[in-house]
Amino acid sequence: MPVPVRMPHDAGDGLTTARLVLRRYTLDDLPSLVAINADPEVMRYLGGVMTREQSRAFLDARMLNYYDVHPGFGIWLTTLRETGETVGMHCLNHIHGEPLIQVGYRIERAHWGRGYATEMSLALMLYGFTRKRLELITAITDLDHVVSQRVLTNVGLHRVGDRLFPHPNLVKSGRLAYFECHRAAWLGHFAAGLDPEGIPA
Ligand SMILES: CC(C)(COP(=O)(O)OP(=O)(O)OC[C@H]1O[C@@H](n2cnc3c(N)ncnc32)[C@H](O)[C@@H]1OP(=O)(O)O)[C@@H](O)C(=O)NCCC(=O)NCCS
Repeated sequence: MPVPVRMPHDAGDGLTTARLVLRRYTLDDLPSLVAINADPEVMRYLGGVMTREQSRAFLDARMLNYYDVHPGFGIWLTTLRETGETVGMHCLNHIHGEPLIQVGYRIERAHWGRGYATEMSLALMLYGFTRKRLELITAITDLDHVVSQRVLTNVGLHRVGDRLFPHPNLVKSGRLAYFECHRAAWLGHFAAGLDPEGIPA
């Protein structure tokens, strides 16, 4: 039975899966962003915890200002369809300083292990390859981050090797596990598992 997805033209307008829905961040979401970025377990492989000021700068640069410059791409708030509760974030955006588009996720600790990172990442792969007509989706994660690597493999990316990225926000992490997935290969193997008409508009 294919997994249902509702796919708007812009993921931030409500990309929806069986349990989750994305929306754009606003300034009002700063407290929840500050909270997730202040959790040392969440930030273990993401350069360590952020202060409130760092989260505010991240919200402006990578979220609020990014949406208009790169329509249909960005970092979005991930919420539960049923209750509206925030569970974390998902992204389809540029790797810092690169032309490459990456898929990514950050889930609040209380919601780990329920398949949320995987569920919305699969929908984002479909959205990226069909709505946004991407030829390639990439991802990076820490060499030791086995859980994230598992999610990436489960949604169809494969490890190409290790890479160093020169952007100041990434270079300090050293070599990162680099993953790729090409459009034709993904559509051939994974798209049949998803039903983009499965959730009525
Ligand atoms: C990485 C993260 C997003 C995963 O979120 P999640 O919603 O718990 O992930 P899912 O439940 O969708 O999938 C986790 C997968 O890892 C597997 N897993 C869990 N613990 C594992 C372990 N110790 N070793 C190997 N695999 C493990 C799960 O079994 C599952 O795989 P499966 O579906 O094949 O069984 C979450 O832990 C997180 O937000 N971490 C902090 C932020 C972060 O590191 N983001 C990624 C940056 S690259």
